[in-house]
Amino acid sequence: MIERKQSNALYEKAKQYLPGGVNSPVRAFRSVNGSPIFMEKGAGSHIWDADGNEYIDFCCSWGPLILGHAEPSVLNKVSGVMANGTSFGAPSKYESQLAQMIVDNHRYLEKIRFVNSGTEATMSAIRLARGYTGKNKVIKFEGCYHGHVDSLMVKAGSGLATLGTSTSAGIPESYIKETIVLPLNDMGAIDQAIEKYGDDIACIIIEPVPANNGLLLQDKAFLQFLRKRCSDSGILLFFDEVISGFRVSFEGASGYYGIKPDLLAFGKIIGGGFPVGAYGASVEIMDHVAPDGPVYQAGTLSGNPVAMAAGIAQLEQCLKPGFYEALEAKTSALVKQVQAHTDAKGYPFHMFHIGSIFWMSFSNKNRVQTADAIDPNSGERFKVFFDHLLENGVYVGPSSYEVGFVSAAHTQDDLNKAAKVMMAALDRAYA
Ligand SMILES: Cc1ncc(COP(=O)(O)O)c(C=O)c1O
Repeated sequence: MIERKQSNALYEKAKQYLPGGVNSPVRAFRSVNGSPIFMEKGAGSHIWDADGNEYIDFCCSWGPLILGHAEPSVLNKVSGVMANGTSFGAPSKYESQLAQMIVDNHRYLEKIRFVNSGTEATMSAIRLARGYTGKNKVIKFEGCYHGHVDSLMVKAGSGLATLGTSTSAGIPESYIKETIVLPLNDMGAIDQAIEKYGDDIACIIIEPVPANNGLLLQDKAFLQFLRKRCSDSGILLFFDEVISGFRVSFEGASGYYGIKPDLLAFGKIIGGGFPVGAYGASVEIMDHVAPDGPVYQAGTLSGNPVAMAAGIAQLEQCLKPGFYEALEAKTSALVKQVQAHTDAKGYPFHMFHIGSIFWMSFSNKNRVQTADAIDPNSGERFKVFFDHLLENGVYVGPSSYEVGFVSAAHTQDDLNKAAKVMMAALDRAYA
């Protein structure tokens, strides 16, 4: 067993001052064995914990670090800008530099507003959808996460088009009575909901690459169907691209599938490892945002120069020709290697991927498109798998429902080593 004395001591201290010892619940390792590993340092694709143990990292801070840790061009840009002050509460040139870089390279965006997290982005864009359309209801999908926005923290009921009940304490029923939760990949459910509530539906929000509850890859035809039904019914189509944006392509899933949403939300990669979110749309829709329009939204640290600089430096790299092709090729080779092993052994296992996002499903279904298609018993095998990874220097998110990310910093050597460890971990999980 590798030593985790320092991590354990840090965790004991953290628990005295922070709920669960953490600032975001999944970090507490409640779905796996053991206690959280406290990290000390990152460089490229590797991280080191407080006890000096080294890991190849596929969590990548849950997605933002598409270039890996402490990437020199990001660090240089940030430290240069930071030397002149960290925030002014007044505009600086970096906001429009980053905005221009994004808008000029995204066929479906005309204007964007920077905020400080993915949650803020979806929350503000939902307000905009309502303010723009004058309608109240929102359709969301079971298994899609859009941050901890009160009205979106809703679990589906069993029937179609049920009005939701909250998945968190502290959210009044009245806050979520305008939220309709539907199963993914179910065109009939959309038709029924539109028929029943259509006059009052402001938007349909979806993760076009649902990646918060496993990787529930949707058929392109389903996303196209959503586009058409929204256009026919005066409903805004809202793609939450907090994970998929700048990840599956520079234009995210919208560009990948060639489908134009009316509203977009971003987070993670856009901030180069700093707290940044954004929402965007056409000029016509964005003209409704304050101060140009009546939909209020603001932020003390929004668009601060340091975070903008990190985003600029990171996205500059992402725009280089072949960047996404190289990431996809590396990820696909990793997935093929692991899948070939489990196929040869006959394990009920499938490794899904899109671009540089991957997910391991502990079942042999080669299509998992809805939340309820995930085997709820996968968690037990995942625990064994996860323990073996940690013991052998590979770090992934501590839950069977979390996806992994490959970064530009992962070398072929990293991926070969990781594949070997993953294969051995699967042998243990299926022993
Ligand atoms: C698709 C999606 N939307 C929104 C969010 C919320 O973003 P944040 O955690 O930055 O608030 C997340 C976070 O994982 C996400 O994956």
